[in-house]
Amino acid sequence: MSVYLNGSYVPRESATVSVLDRGFVFGDGIYEVWRVVRGGLFEHERHVRRLVEGAEALRLTRPAELSRRALETMAARLLADAGLQAGEATFYVQVTRGVAPRTHHFPPEGTPPTVFAMVNPFSPPEALRVSGATAVTVPDVRWHRCNVKTIQLLPNAMAKQQAQERGALEAVLVRDGVVTEGSHTNVMAVVGGTIRTHPANELILAGVTRAVVLELAAELGIAVEERPVTLDELWGVDELFLTGTTTDVMPLVRVDDRVIGGGTSGPVSRALIAALHARMDATPVSKIE
Ligand SMILES: Cc1ncc(COP(=O)(O)O)c(C=O)c1O
Repeated sequence: MSVYLNGSYVPRESATVSVLDRGFVFGDGIYEVWRVVRGGLFEHERHVRRLVEGAEALRLTRPAELSRRALETMAARLLADAGLQAGEATFYVQVTRGVAPRTHHFPPEGTPPTVFAMVNPFSPPEALRVSGATAVTVPDVRWHRCNVKTIQLLPNAMAKQQAQERGALEAVLVRDGVVTEGSHTNVMAVVGGTIRTHPANELILAGVTRAVVLELAAELGIAVEERPVTLDELWGVDELFLTGTTTDVMPLVRVDDRVIGGGTSGPVSRALIAALHARMDATPVSKIE
């Protein structure tokens, strides 16, 4: 399988990056993950926009690859090479501040960013969606720029590891007594028929799936309030679910071994799963230009 690295398509085994890459030394970079449906990039525009905004937020030199069209061509070529044009896959893109002698301050003007991309096969967890998943609460110890999708994922990885060790799918992060999001998902609750979720500020990553699900909720006539659920409120919500690129809409039926709602996926979650899958099925196939 090939990957894309700095302008070339190379076999994954022989793709290498310098030990002085600022991504390796400082975690100085951003990334993006698309869901690929039959060769098409789901919500392509939104993912490109988030990547470009991330580059601007970190003052990364914007590489030529960060255009809608260049990314579409890159994905199409990697998918063709991997034989993944049918079915489901993911497309991953990472941009770092490039290779330079190690200094905390930025490298000299003109240092080219490192651009890496790959595709991977993907099987959505459909069986778990029917039974509902479990989560554990973990303190949210991240910085105050969680709205930028940086490759610095150590707090997220440690939270997810805690979930894994406790047999749960996801870690629900709690900061100052309120639910912010998951380690790699957004969290939504249904309270009295209204969807409640943390506002898209610097304390969460504004998920692409979050935005799509809120749009679908509006289309379905479901009220939405961008106000976080407190930890105290969590135990009394009617439904709780995660949203994410590789998670879609995933009902949570237990948190910290306590039953949520009726202990099964609820009607709002089920309606949103169906609506999201219908929208994914309509993803246009990528064009190579
Ligand atoms: C911290 C965090 N929150 C939320 C999400 C969900 O975002 P999206 O729906 O764009 O995948 C992710 C995705 O990786 C994430 O890392």
